[in-house]
Amino acid sequence: MVMIGATSRATEGFAPELFAVALYKGESPPEDLGEDATEVVSSGDFGGKAGETALLYGQEGPAPRLLLVGLGDRDPASLETVRRAAATVARRARTLKLREAALALPALPETGTRDVARAAAEGANLGLYRFDRHKTAPNSHEVETFWLVAEDETLEEAGEGAELGDKVAEGAVLARDLANEPSNVATPEYLAQKARGIAEKYGMDLNVLDRAGIEEEGLTGLATVGRSASNEPRFIVLEHRKGDESAPVVLVGKAVTFDSGGISIKPSAGMEDMKFDMSGGAAVLGAMEAVGALDLALNVVAIVPATENLPGGDAFKPGDVLEMHSGKTVEIVTTDAEGRLILADALSYARRYGPAAVIDCATLTGACVVALGSHASGLMGNDEDLIAEVETAGETTGERAWPLPLFDEYTEQIKGDTADIKNSGGRGGGALTAGAFLKEFADFPWVHLDIAGTAYGKKGNAYTTKGATGVPSRLLVEFLIGRTR
Ligand code: BES
Ligand code: MN
Ligand code: ZN
Repeated sequence: MVMIGATSRATEGFAPELFAVALYKGESPPEDLGEDATEVVSSGDFGGKAGETALLYGQEGPAPRLLLVGLGDRDPASLETVRRAAATVARRARTLKLREAALALPALPETGTRDVARAAAEGANLGLYRFDRHKTAPNSHEVETFWLVAEDETLEEAGEGAELGDKVAEGAVLARDLANEPSNVATPEYLAQKARGIAEKYGMDLNVLDRAGIEEEGLTGLATVGRSASNEPRFIVLEHRKGDESAPVVLVGKAVTFDSGGISIKPSAGMEDMKFDMSGGAAVLGAMEAVGALDLALNVVAIVPATENLPGGDAFKPGDVLEMHSGKTVEIVTTDAEGRLILADALSYARRYGPAAVIDCATLTGACVVALGSHASGLMGNDEDLIAEVETAGETTGERAWPLPLFDEYTEQIKGDTADIKNSGGRGGGALTAGAFLKEFADFPWVHLDIAGTAYGKKGNAYTTKGATGVPSRLLVEFLIGRTR
């Protein structure tokens, strides 16, 4: 794990192996970097495009290597620009097999050093992430230290931002690790053990229900989806109580550790990706790791219903009717719409907390991937202010969420024939009928994030790799930080 710290060029002994300076498109380098840096820009060889780099040796700066890294256009530069630039530098240092690197923090219009440093720390940490624990010859070289270089006057702010960004990133790292694990490792009980680890580390309360406990509590959706699996379901409830008597924020994360579709079985091509169907639960646990590390002065409850969805002699079947935890009845149209069943129970369980807000996140529908691709999570809910708050947290963190409607007509579409509602409304508006289904179980301010397109990917960007992204763990943490102000 890389150590990220803040320093200034005046600090005694500051002599990193690589010193990076970020430049906007068309910007000339500071003169004190020497003539070669000026030349590489004036010659047009380095234009400052986002992600572009130029490596120079024997310069006048503090290091034997000077790396110029492009930020792209000054307008509209954002914290995301900084995350990506820092990740690019960190990865380049790793390719060069260096132990340490330093990045001069760039200036962002209307943004303080603390936020810039936070974004740089997130980018450097997450950019260096890889999931290689199952390789028999894991990658041997790791960057050990990454310095964020500030001015003397802003050094303290930079230090705070570095620490904050690193903790937020470590939450996302946990989310990625959990989601990347195959389903033979990341079972419901494995997730419960990880939750136990967090609870013990930070003094949180943990309650885990096993199959018998789930049935006893009347969590019919979870009990039914998990009925045919030999890896037993778990209902995981993790409570961080640092907000006195205030109403808690409840985070709910779908954790289907493998979604075969059940009796309504999925096509085999690409089914291996359904190990990622617990990404919502992974992100919620990742967010709780950060909540603990940051010791947020807030009450936060995480609820993670965890199960496999498999066919079998005891499996639930299309046409079955379930009486849910809330008392509402649901007709099963397809056993592949299992996520909403386990989430519905988690939402009605959340009522007992009298929550200030509930946010659920789930790889819920292929339809959401069709609608938004991998560039934004679907955002739905029953409270405009809360929706706006979550949207802002997404924008700030680069984990974008885009509002989608929950018109009454979508609720009409899931009216049941033999039960109150059915678990599928057909092909049209699939992300929205799923949202409308959940809305039936939410009688508090509530937001739903459909992360089917954003939680994992086929190719990465500057600070994500192929596989799990950790989305929306940083969004959740940002939302919670906002609630402490
Ligand atoms: N886990 C899937 C959704 C999914 C699909 C996530 C593709 C990531 C990529 C979910 O349980 C599911 O199967 N949803 C169905 C619902 C339908 C049967 C109503 C879907 O989206 O096809
Ligand atoms: Mn499914
Ligand atoms: Zn699923």
